[in-house]
Amino acid sequence: MTPDLILKGGRLPNGEIADIAIEKDRISAVEPAITAEAKETVDISGNLVSPPFVDPHFHMDATLSYGRPRINASGTLLEGISLWGELKPLQTEEEIAERALAYCDWAASKGLLAIRSHVDTSDENGLKGVRALIEVREQIKRYIRLQLVAFPQDGFYRSPTARDCTLRALDLGVDIVGGIPHFERTMEDGRQSVTELCEIAATRGLMVDMHCDETDDPLSRHIEQLAFETQRLGLQGRVAGSHLTSMHSMDNYYVSKLLPLMAEAQVAAIPNPLINITLQGRHDTYPKRRGMTRVPEMLQYGIRVGFGQDCVMDPWYSLGTADLLDVAFMGLHVAQMTSPADMHRCFAMVTSESAAIMGLEDYGLEKGCRADLVVLNAADPVEAIRLRADRLMVIAGGEIIARGEAANMRLNLPERPESVSPRRPL
Ligand code: FE2
Repeated sequence: MTPDLILKGGRLPNGEIADIAIEKDRISAVEPAITAEAKETVDISGNLVSPPFVDPHFHMDATLSYGRPRINASGTLLEGISLWGELKPLQTEEEIAERALAYCDWAASKGLLAIRSHVDTSDENGLKGVRALIEVREQIKRYIRLQLVAFPQDGFYRSPTARDCTLRALDLGVDIVGGIPHFERTMEDGRQSVTELCEIAATRGLMVDMHCDETDDPLSRHIEQLAFETQRLGLQGRVAGSHLTSMHSMDNYYVSKLLPLMAEAQVAAIPNPLINITLQGRHDTYPKRRGMTRVPEMLQYGIRVGFGQDCVMDPWYSLGTADLLDVAFMGLHVAQMTSPADMHRCFAMVTSESAAIMGLEDYGLEKGCRADLVVLNAADPVEAIRLRADRLMVIAGGEIIARGEAANMRLNLPERPESVSPRRPL
């Protein structure tokens, strides 16, 4: 069969140079030299071609709401929570959907083609977001795979309506069970919420992704219970703990027991470097803690880690552009993962590792995988992170959905070249 599209000479994340043939919505061949004629052929030699970026942790019901009804003046987590409480009753389903679609345009243009979004299920106002995002999930499925997590943000037990609304959200078609054990009234309530929410997931055959221990309190240890329930209920490989920031502050001896338990239960971790570095450690004077969980140590134990973005222009974070390379860049710095192997690993943590956490089975660059690809103005994954490289082409389901150009600034300096590129000289 004639391929619809052939990309010639791109560099894969593993360093190999290959041609990629696409038929309909699938990759039909990845070989050193494909001689077949295609309906369209694009020369991408010298540029990195990767499976798309994947964001395993986001809040699409809040994104792009910056300034509504007011800005977060202190920039703190607590003011963000109260601001969200002000915004929720004001926003309509239409408004949430419109903002989410606008965000997905940003994401598509950056080659971010799979997103796991938590959606508030604390009360009736939260269910507006559930209904809006279920609709959006359908509208964008041709180019973005959106997973939704039922997230009782005000506390599964602490909010009187959260339990009922969370179950209703799952009945409506939300994909994954969330939670927020550290925000319940007591440690015991937090522990119990982990147990009940994991049981709900096991009964319904769903995955679990909890905001877990997003605090600087070293005694916030709900991740231990999450690993235990994962084992008890046979949920291995289907559970993630998001944030896990308290681990930054935990006693080292305790962590040496905890990490093997997480590895044994195959519980994945989803730190959110941009948010963790700005929201945690706020009660500290100096030295200030970093507030990101122990990523290199987790990797040593074989725990799967994916970096998430968490927020873009919402009550908690005023910045962000849907660029997972920003996330990898910050994560690399905060975790001090600066060896060549570690930097490559950081790229994987915003692509293939996060895809594995989300269970995206036909993700990748092998024959038969879904033809979702991004071409970057970079020689390799490390250069892509260094430059937060321009996207030259985004392909979703075999279709070119975005084309871009390398940013081009012209110098006007005597006896210096007119054109300058930050790419590594070849
Ligand atoms: Fe979050």
